[in-house]
Amino acid sequence: MNPMKLHIKSFGCQMNKLDTALVTAALKDARFNLTESVKEADVVLINTCSVRDHAEQRVISHLGHLKHIKESKPDLIVGVIGCMAQRLGDKLLEHEAVNIVCGPTQIPQIADLITEVIEQNKKELAITEQIRKPAPQPDSDALEEFESAYGIEAKGIPGQAFVRVMRGCNKFCTYCIVPYVRGPEVSRPPQAIIDQIKRLADDGIKQVTLLGQAVNSYEYKAAEKTYSLADILAKAAEIQDIEWIKFVTNYPTEKYFDEILQVMADSPKVCPYLHIPAQSGSDKILKAMNRRYTADWYLSLLDKARAIVPEIAIAGDLIVGFPGETDQDFQQTVELVKKARYRNCFVFKYSPRPGTTADKRLQNTVPLQVKQARNIELLAVQEKISEELNREFLGKTVKVLIEGPSKKPHLNAAENQNNPQLVARTATDYIVVFNAPQSLAGQFTKVKITKTTPLTLFAELTASQE
Ligand code: 5AD
Ligand code: SF4
Repeated sequence: MNPMKLHIKSFGCQMNKLDTALVTAALKDARFNLTESVKEADVVLINTCSVRDHAEQRVISHLGHLKHIKESKPDLIVGVIGCMAQRLGDKLLEHEAVNIVCGPTQIPQIADLITEVIEQNKKELAITEQIRKPAPQPDSDALEEFESAYGIEAKGIPGQAFVRVMRGCNKFCTYCIVPYVRGPEVSRPPQAIIDQIKRLADDGIKQVTLLGQAVNSYEYKAAEKTYSLADILAKAAEIQDIEWIKFVTNYPTEKYFDEILQVMADSPKVCPYLHIPAQSGSDKILKAMNRRYTADWYLSLLDKARAIVPEIAIAGDLIVGFPGETDQDFQQTVELVKKARYRNCFVFKYSPRPGTTADKRLQNTVPLQVKQARNIELLAVQEKISEELNREFLGKTVKVLIEGPSKKPHLNAAENQNNPQLVARTATDYIVVFNAPQSLAGQFTKVKITKTTPLTLFAELTASQE
């Protein structure tokens, strides 16, 4: 059989990017060749995100485009995988363009599903019926095997890899769809994670990012010991060729917090970067979100993090326009952002998700224009803080891991124009742009910061390394 051509498009978070990489690796093994062009493809897979309506609308419009292509290419197979597949199930299968709907738990079956569509010429649905029940053992064994088998190839950026330490979420923030599409929290066995990181290190990986929806909730009970994320970080730091370890994203909670921060303080490999979303600065809204903490308590957690790891950079997420958010509530969020002094934060406009508690019980009261205005105001507050924090880097030399060529040209480019503009990140996850040979992608280097803007640091390679 000639290899078939596969085009795969991914929406959403790091977790989804990792799933896309795993599926791509598995299908390459099953004799598919990748193609950048939808028109050339025999199979198109779309890995979808359900966190906000906007992400789903983009998928729907993409499917409209594929329907059009299928008019002149009826054999094209279109599969929708990921969160939206799990959320919409057979409704999505009714779409004219769609042949396969496959949820996040079923991705190990994707090659078989494609074969069945080809051989039997019928539509295929593979999702979890009762998503909040623990996955049946064969499904979770298959996922674990899939994850370990393809971890090595799951790397988009040279020298870097993502490793999932846990699946699912049990927090049930009232606005969030994740617990209903990714199922209950399941922590992977520590040895499986560590073995996977060792193999990645043998394969030339220098930075691993550990992934979980609430990664600091990682907990694995073995016969004699309960392992936390702190244990995983400490063990990963023992692996010789791994130089940087990051982890995202954290839920603000006391449990294991000190232990995790202590490993960060003790191990130069555990990067001093903490993404820990607050979501709101109003206690009333936090309660309605089921976030289980107050704004003051959250800020005291950040103080503690900074006391244990003084050089730490903290990032956050905030939602504006949650049901019932008044101007006063929003001003409390502004205050929180001013006090938190995030290195950066992501601001999202509340998007009602069908099936979530907020959508069932609360009216989406804040008009879109108000959400928009609050979004802009909050970003402006953060921009000023980021600008101040970034300015402190001027003239300093920092170690960075180079990702590769910058996708968009920066006008503020540093001097050496003979080389392309590369993007790199510091241990604290600041973005640094400088001109250097592309062959350096995947390497660590030291750069001197020459210019700063709110979003980016600009630099030049230090003389000693030229
Ligand atoms: N509307 C807007 N933003 C949301 N997020 C999660 N659910 C929603 C929603 N329904 C945001 C949260 C989370 C980030 C990944 O997405 O801020 O931290
Ligand atoms: Fe969603 Fe809350 Fe779980 Fe994050 S912690 S994935 S916001 S339910």
